[in-house]
Amino acid sequence: MTTTGAHELREEVRRRYAESARAVSEGSSGSCGSGSCCEGGESDAKFGEALYDAELRGELPEAASLASLGCGNPIVVADLNEGETVLDLGSGGGIDVILSAKRVGETGIAFGLDMTDEMLALARANAQEAGIRNAVFLKGVIEEIPLPAGSVDVVISNCVINLSTDKATVLTEIARVLRPGGRIGISDVVAEDRLSPEERAERGSYVGCIAGALSKGEYEAGLEAAGFDRVSVEFTHEVADGMHGAIVKAVKTAEPERRGLPVIQPAASAGCC
Ligand SMILES: C[S@@+](CC[C@H](N)C(=O)[O-])C[C@H]1O[C@@H](n2cnc3c(N)ncnc32)[C@H](O)[C@@H]1O
Repeated sequence: MTTTGAHELREEVRRRYAESARAVSEGSSGSCGSGSCCEGGESDAKFGEALYDAELRGELPEAASLASLGCGNPIVVADLNEGETVLDLGSGGGIDVILSAKRVGETGIAFGLDMTDEMLALARANAQEAGIRNAVFLKGVIEEIPLPAGSVDVVISNCVINLSTDKATVLTEIARVLRPGGRIGISDVVAEDRLSPEERAERGSYVGCIAGALSKGEYEAGLEAAGFDRVSVEFTHEVADGMHGAIVKAVKTAEPERRGLPVIQPAASAGCC
């Protein structure tokens, strides 16, 4: 993909998720159905708040639940402890940051990183409504995380890495900000290895979290190349033929090496809308 193509795709992603945030902020609807991950009303059981059990949803302001656009629940896999520093990549309406902040307690901190102003405003309002004081929402891109090296215990993310136009750099950035021994608990859409990038693009759009998905093998290779160990990618539920919501786990044991990372790019045919 050319630099211009990648830039345009990222701007399209930003525009679509700004629309989703506005829909929730204006109270007109939930965030699904507005060209987002759950476009086409897929919020029933494949994307969004339905993936959180009632008890977890009960901890959240209604707008935070409604804004949920994830494809899993990273909170249950990240196994957070009191005092830890957590970073949520592509924090959207703040659902996983709020839940994380409660679990790490006042001696810990939960960062949310997002590039979309409307999502950041929604997330800050939701965290305030939830009475959270140990959450910080940062504006920026996940390809260039605005935090120092070795400053984070756990990186979580929910249905965002598939939207990146430079996934190898995202994985290297995750490794950079994690402390040695730090871990990841990520939910994402992942393709079966049998599907080519073109076949993934036939199954859904890029902003809809389908066309840009990595395959299981690509995810594992990318994480290993970025210095991760104990890598696992487990499918949880099918979201399209051969495409799954998945839980991605790994531990950082070595410093990332930029050289040798696989080039992971969406298919040239991956339409953005
Ligand atoms: C599918 S939504 C998921 C939001 C949230 N994680 C959730 O579970 O509800 C994707 C979010 O990632 C953000 N995003 C997408 N690509 C990004 C990037 N390259 N850098 C930072 N944020 C990004 C969007 O603005 C949007 O808020």
